[in-house]
Amino acid sequence: MDAIRIDVLSVIPGFFDSPLSNGLLSIARKKGFAEVVVHNLHDYGLGRYRQVDDTPFGGGAGMVLRPEPVFACVEKLKAERHYDAVIFPTPDGRPFRQQEANRLSRLKNLIFLCGHYKALDERVRESLVTMEYSIGDVVLSGGEIPSLLMMDALLRVVPGVLGDSESALTDSFQTGILDCAYYTRPPEFRGMKVPEVLLSGHHAKIEQWRHENALERTRQRRPDLLAEDV
Ligand code: ADE
Repeated sequence: MDAIRIDVLSVIPGFFDSPLSNGLLSIARKKGFAEVVVHNLHDYGLGRYRQVDDTPFGGGAGMVLRPEPVFACVEKLKAERHYDAVIFPTPDGRPFRQQEANRLSRLKNLIFLCGHYKALDERVRESLVTMEYSIGDVVLSGGEIPSLLMMDALLRVVPGVLGDSESALTDSFQTGILDCAYYTRPPEFRGMKVPEVLLSGHHAKIEQWRHENALERTRQRRPDLLAEDV
């Protein structure tokens, strides 16, 4: 098994310290499923102040990430190995869904380019970026959180990253609908009882209850998923 190599380009590399050393990303790295390298775009910045951004031509509020530092960093990486995708998280990208996470999980070498400031110079998008994803109809301050979200989603479906007991295959969205409700001990807590069938040990009935519960939840919470052809 080859590890997925992920290079992350950011102007705030320290942002990744905790997520990479805790939780799923840390587990995936320790188990040898992923190698994640974070690059500071300021190291490729211009002049004495390692400048990475500038004002937009045509005026207007906000700063734009300049092309030179991004090109320099990506070209250095590309000289070292082949990359299957250069991913740019952006609110105007394609919606990032489970299917996209599954697809990315089968690739080998990935670059995540985290935008910051108001925008990224369009020439970078035109000539370096190969995939643009939005993680929702909401605007965040940069691409760091979306990149982490995508890394988590793609690594948790790599076989072996999660223990067998936590199989990602039964997750919401993998099945096309939401997941069912779950309960653990105690069977009664403050007067609230676990549905009888789950305590019965009758596997077929339990499966049937879970399927119906999942369908009902989906009907109530995400009817749009049932309208899609799944
Ligand atoms: N960067 C800022 N907002 C974003 C979003 N919604 N999706 C992906 N990248 C973003």
